[in-house]
Amino acid sequence: MLKYKRAWGVDGLDREKFLVKTFGCQMNKHDSERIAGMLIQEGYEPARSAEEADIIIFNTCCVRKHAEDRLYGQVGALKSLKRRKLNLIIAVGGCLAQKDGGEIQERATHVDLVFGTYNLSSLPNLIRRVRGDSAKICEIWKEPKILPTELPSLREHKYFAWITVTIGCNNFCSYCIVPYVRGREISRPMQDIYSEVRKLAQEGVIEITLLGQNVNSYGRDLYGKSQFSTLLRELDKIQGIKRIRFTTSHPRDLSGEIIKAVAECDKVCEHFHLPVQAGSDRILKLMNRGYTKDRYLEMVQKVRETTPECSITTDIIVGFPGETEEDFQETLDLVEKARFDQAFTFIYSPRSGTQAAEIEVQVPQEVKIERFKKLVSLQSQICLEQNRKLVGKTLEIFVEGPSKKEKNILTGRTRTNKVVNFQGPRELINKMANVVIAEAHTWYLVGTLTNANA
Ligand code: 5AD
Ligand code: SF4
Repeated sequence: MLKYKRAWGVDGLDREKFLVKTFGCQMNKHDSERIAGMLIQEGYEPARSAEEADIIIFNTCCVRKHAEDRLYGQVGALKSLKRRKLNLIIAVGGCLAQKDGGEIQERATHVDLVFGTYNLSSLPNLIRRVRGDSAKICEIWKEPKILPTELPSLREHKYFAWITVTIGCNNFCSYCIVPYVRGREISRPMQDIYSEVRKLAQEGVIEITLLGQNVNSYGRDLYGKSQFSTLLRELDKIQGIKRIRFTTSHPRDLSGEIIKAVAECDKVCEHFHLPVQAGSDRILKLMNRGYTKDRYLEMVQKVRETTPECSITTDIIVGFPGETEEDFQETLDLVEKARFDQAFTFIYSPRSGTQAAEIEVQVPQEVKIERFKKLVSLQSQICLEQNRKLVGKTLEIFVEGPSKKEKNILTGRTRTNKVVNFQGPRELINKMANVVIAEAHTWYLVGTLTNANA
């Protein structure tokens, strides 16, 4: 965690203010904490709104076209502010910038600065150059020279922290752009991760989430074979940390050792995010996923046998090129059998440069939408059934704050990452509490407080 002088308003300096807008996954959210960390170290100060900001930075995603469209929508909406406020710098970084570079400034001519995922570290310098020369800049490195993990970070939450364990991805799933914009997989030495977590624990962090495109293969590049289970066991020993989460687990690399470590480590939470993507063996092969439907279901069974209370969530894509009705039925069948606690469902979005985008037989949009609706409807029913199994159980939750909708209701999460709402005193916020589950809904549970400070 970055140590910085909370100087604004104190030293009388008129500091420039920045705002970071983040799209996409947790890795991007964590990168945005690094952007904030670097800029604060350089003497900038956070803005509360776009109107107040002198620099607006978009940290972008390009995993589906929808994320790109949203980005251009939000950047476009700043045109009039840019006209009114001549010194405003608009910067676009992250995955879309790494992919499209200068094209972004062709489409959105009021963007001053474009920087890629590999040159996050040069952002302060680039901002200075834009300010100094009043010129537009697009700088995209082709490989990382300074790893993002070496940069300072301004944590968004006092009690939660993200920890990068690997960057990049070696899997080249045929639909996915990530390996092209995030590069090859690089693991951080275990000692570095251990030291960072120990430091966070001393700062009062209670819950950590280990991040990687495929945490299950952590350490393969450094130690010759995956050391993820060892990493979990080492981090489990650190005093002060109460919950250890991790994401994402590639099913192909889920070993018995990892399942065992999750079962045996007290702090490691009972939850796997295990993206299946599809249920048809033919499509799984075309996706280059490296497992079959049966193999995946065996893994789910093994997790449930070893840790019965474990939640399993997934990602599923419908409408992959050439997906037939029969293939789609295999996905529905897998969903019926796996009983996921939650599934993030996506309509396939062709990404140019990936193998799948070259396949000629694309599924018509209306078929994709129809399949998507069927899948969502089946999974919602299963979510509710899974949640109903918890009624009457006493669960430990970490209380995050008042519920967004009802201010006099508190909300928190179980170890299995389920949202629980309950009535209780505000002093419980940021503490552990035990609740008995009284009601199950599709997306959340309702509980009754038993005793505080579990
Ligand atoms: N189209 C739709 N969904 C995609 N994902 C990745 N690439 C695509 C794509 N081209 C989904 C996968 C992945 C999640 C993060 O995004 O399900 O697990
Ligand atoms: Fe993309 Fe596959 Fe890598 Fe995940 S494992 S980031 S889906 S290529």
